[in-house]
Amino acid sequence: MAKARTVFVCQACGAEHPKWGGRCLSCGEWNTLVETVVEPPSATRRRKPGTSRENAPQRLTDVQADRFERIPLPLEEFNRVLGGGVVPGSLVLIGGDPGIGKSTLLLQVAAQLAERHGPVLYVSGEESTQQIRLRAERLGIRVPALYVLSETNLDAVLEHVSRLRPQALVVDSIQTVYLDELTSGPGSVSQVRECAARLLQVAKTHNIPIFLVGHVTKAGAIAGPRVLEHIVDAVLYLEGDRYHAYRLLRSVKNRFGSTNEVGVFEMGERGLAEVTNPSEFFLAEYRSGATGSAVAVTLEGSRPLLVEIQALSTATPFSQPRRTANGLDVNRLYLLLAVLSKRVGLSLHNQDVFVNVVGGIKISEPAADLAVAVAIASSVRDRAVAPQTAFVGEIGLGGELRTVAQLERRLAEAAKLGFRRCVVPRSSRPVASADGLEVVPCRTVVEALQAALAPGP
Ligand code: TYD
Ligand code: MG
Repeated sequence: MAKARTVFVCQACGAEHPKWGGRCLSCGEWNTLVETVVEPPSATRRRKPGTSRENAPQRLTDVQADRFERIPLPLEEFNRVLGGGVVPGSLVLIGGDPGIGKSTLLLQVAAQLAERHGPVLYVSGEESTQQIRLRAERLGIRVPALYVLSETNLDAVLEHVSRLRPQALVVDSIQTVYLDELTSGPGSVSQVRECAARLLQVAKTHNIPIFLVGHVTKAGAIAGPRVLEHIVDAVLYLEGDRYHAYRLLRSVKNRFGSTNEVGVFEMGERGLAEVTNPSEFFLAEYRSGATGSAVAVTLEGSRPLLVEIQALSTATPFSQPRRTANGLDVNRLYLLLAVLSKRVGLSLHNQDVFVNVVGGIKISEPAADLAVAVAIASSVRDRAVAPQTAFVGEIGLGGELRTVAQLERRLAEAAKLGFRRCVVPRSSRPVASADGLEVVPCRTVVEALQAALAPGP
């Protein structure tokens, strides 16, 4: 018998290499190549005769445009991220760190679907049915139409699907299920890819939504299967910080809606509850007029979000002062400190500087620069920030304030939360001020700091 051909498949990106190497040449990850037997074309690809009739070519003009009827759930934030509700026939991947709440979210979603639309099957390859029952009790879920199954063999799962005919299917997780016909183990690239392809077929032929849970690797990609992202219709990430209650559900791919959407949830004693007023949530402990604290108006997806930024500077006992950034890129902090020392003349060389974004949220938007700079200057000069003032603006190396996207929207959100003033970059285009909000346009950081910090005692 001829020796089976093997290739080395990168478990991070799915690239195939003829030889083993310590590093994948395609994605640059180390130690991810695994020897894999090249499988003969699987039975799934060979359609049984007759099945193709279900899905015949149609004239484009005959296709109904609103074929994505959507199933709205009571969980509004979930609808929002999907673009207005669950689309029947869609395959949705939900990724996130272990313990972040993926199983909890999907159990809640499954229960809501089951309550309104009939049987839903929740398949877990990770937990026993007893464990799922315990969680359901904690969540207060009592829906007879919700079926649970603890199974990892995908063929067995699909058999149950064709018998039960559920209105939706949850597979928790795609890394634990496997197909017998492949020799590689569960979680390997070929299993994950093949299982997802099989589930995609099921979603389309039965016209039911299928949700897959995907684990995330240390590097942050959905484990192994970046290949998965091409197969599924939507990829959502559930993010958050273990030590804080909030969770963000972010869509990074969505064939049925915008990828700019973010849903905000709070993990509580009874599962995930939606947060409809996230800015209030993040500003819950904000004290207006404190030193070293400034409010930034950032955008999460298309939604403005107000967050408090705190800074503390103290005289350093070391020859090299410390700089710590929490929730903020530390390199951005270095840049802002350099601008503050060179363009504003703050003496920072003998100060330790700690910056913290309150609530555990991570900001990657440069529009928060100004708030960070104001918080630092406020702490260094020991002057309170003017009360009820919010800040928007990117800071350039010359100390100039640069315009940011969607300023009007940000101003409206600040006004909604009762802020009275907002310091913004002065641009050629005048901005319409929102009700009750005084807009203070500034050209440079120096000007902005004059507007932001109350005169000293
Ligand atoms: P889980 O959904 O199991 O996470 P994942 O499937 O992403 O690994 O979430 C588990 C965490 O959520 C666990 O630390 C306990 C916490 N939790 C709550 O705080 N409240 C709840 O009602 C539930 C069900 C879980
Ligand atoms: Mg889980």
